[in-house]
Amino acid sequence: MVDEMTYRVGMTLENTAESTADKTADNTPEIIVEDTELATESLVAAQTATAGSEWWRTAVIYQIYPRSFADDDGNGIGDLAGITKRLPSLAELGIDAIWLSPFFRSPQRDAGYDVSDYCDVDPLFGNLADFDLLLETAHGLGLKVIADMVPNHTSADHEWFQAALAAPEGSPERDRYMFREGKGPNGDLPPNNWESVFGGSMWERTTNADGTPGQWFLHIFDKSQPDLNWENPWVREQFYDILRFWLDRGVDGFRVDVAHGMIKADGLPDYTPPADGASMGGAQVSAEVTPLEPIIQDSPPDPPYWGQEGVHEIWRGWHNVLAEYPGDRVLCAEAWVDPLEKVALWVRPDEMSQAFNFAYMFTDWKAPALKRVITESIKAFAEVGAPATWVLSNHDVVRHASRLSLPKDAPPQGAGIGPKTPGKPDPVLGLRRARAATSLMLALPGSAYLYQGEELGLPEDMELPDSARQDPTWFRTNGEKYGRDGCRVPIPWESDRPAFGFNDTGESWLPQPDEWVQYARDSQVGVPGSTLELYRAALQLRRDHGLGSGALTWVKGYDKKVVAFRNGDVTVLANLGKIAVELPVGEVLLASDDVTSGALPRDTTVWLRS
Ligand code: GLC
Repeated sequence: MVDEMTYRVGMTLENTAESTADKTADNTPEIIVEDTELATESLVAAQTATAGSEWWRTAVIYQIYPRSFADDDGNGIGDLAGITKRLPSLAELGIDAIWLSPFFRSPQRDAGYDVSDYCDVDPLFGNLADFDLLLETAHGLGLKVIADMVPNHTSADHEWFQAALAAPEGSPERDRYMFREGKGPNGDLPPNNWESVFGGSMWERTTNADGTPGQWFLHIFDKSQPDLNWENPWVREQFYDILRFWLDRGVDGFRVDVAHGMIKADGLPDYTPPADGASMGGAQVSAEVTPLEPIIQDSPPDPPYWGQEGVHEIWRGWHNVLAEYPGDRVLCAEAWVDPLEKVALWVRPDEMSQAFNFAYMFTDWKAPALKRVITESIKAFAEVGAPATWVLSNHDVVRHASRLSLPKDAPPQGAGIGPKTPGKPDPVLGLRRARAATSLMLALPGSAYLYQGEELGLPEDMELPDSARQDPTWFRTNGEKYGRDGCRVPIPWESDRPAFGFNDTGESWLPQPDEWVQYARDSQVGVPGSTLELYRAALQLRRDHGLGSGALTWVKGYDKKVVAFRNGDVTVLANLGKIAVELPVGEVLLASDDVTSGALPRDTTVWLRS
């Protein structure tokens, strides 16, 4: 038996009529580590084995969205110099690494995820010298730096695509992309029925030099983002060089965009996605609990453009390029596939290092669902020797301080929320739950991702005027889907400065709501109970208690609405029910809300020294 240790805890108030005052330590019932698969020797051992020496196995990685973090030149769009100046505040927060969303040369039709030159900085964000300074400053502060590589597609402005358009059908230049003949007598129907993740067809027709209609090209996302042909060895070689360009400059790894795309099924067969469950990435990530032991073979087939077997060979190639460099470099997959056992294929020892856990991100705020997804995640990743990862927000989804209080009929992920969305999130409840959710997440073993602004408790901006919107999703669906602008609004630093300290001019590429004054970082620094201080304390304690490299065992004896587990010498209780739960005897290390009454109120997480 792995753990015979028992705990002295109180019963839930839901289960007992006794008051806290009536209870003494002597009659407090004892409970033991729950007999789940996680408590078996093999799984605890597996968790421990995954806690290898590489820094990324336990790292807390903070995502910077450069457009919206800090704007040094005051043009309303954030830049690298702005980031560099604000890095000390991130070091103070206690994170281990930053991931920078794309800052490469780009016409910015998808906010930089449409790259026209992978080896240069877009003038909007600065230049290569600014990047080098950012990297040096981050390293000087002990922070690793992860760049965001976008290999599934280029910008239509990329010289490779422009050369492909100028070259004849069947030319080597065209073979770098996915050009096909149209269907129908005049080829005026798209080659198949695939629908773009951003809405509309996945195909766009070209026009020949003489003005006649030409071939079609594939774009999983916007038509300004043509898909590369990854079956072509030339494409593979180019990306090896691009990786080396940034590794030579000193980056510590890459987050890899759409790492489940790249290879398309032979013959590009028609495909109609199920009506529900489509996510931002387009994969069928279900918000429901997935069964405890999903078998990959039994899961629904992937769409012919996602998760094809051939992608894994690409990642083995990338793994080898990173291995040419000394030290530990990370490859993190954005792979929207389901179930988690399938995600784990991306992080086998000879492929990538970690993959985002979107199943965790989209799990409802319900204790049984969370327990199951946590168990399933730890198991799935441990089985391939990879760390579990955890994430609650990023630049593609509704911020969790809003998402966790959305009514049941809220639009699906990726659709975004806006002024006309039925049912508004409750900002007070949302923030309370977000604080509890983050406190729970940061106690889990493995690596965690934070998205800029969540440490301030920022909600989604629901009131952006239509005229300000920029996400291609909004345009390609004729305003039917709001898209992702609401989570991308520049973050507030100082309450009394222009644009809340985002810059000195007050310009902002997306308008900041006036009420964001209450979230400004300077009004939270050193303020007990502020969200910023909660994050700071959690990150410090996570480090002090080695939670990232720990092993999780469930603790039983609580109401089913309580998530209770132990990691090292810390016991974590999260009450997701509406009724307060009695707190066990023990030193409170961290509490997401007030627990001084001796009870654990609704939507609150506490860490206790066990
Ligand atoms: C990824 C990015 C998203 C982008 C898309 C196309 O999902 O996270 O922001 O729009 O890829 O590159």
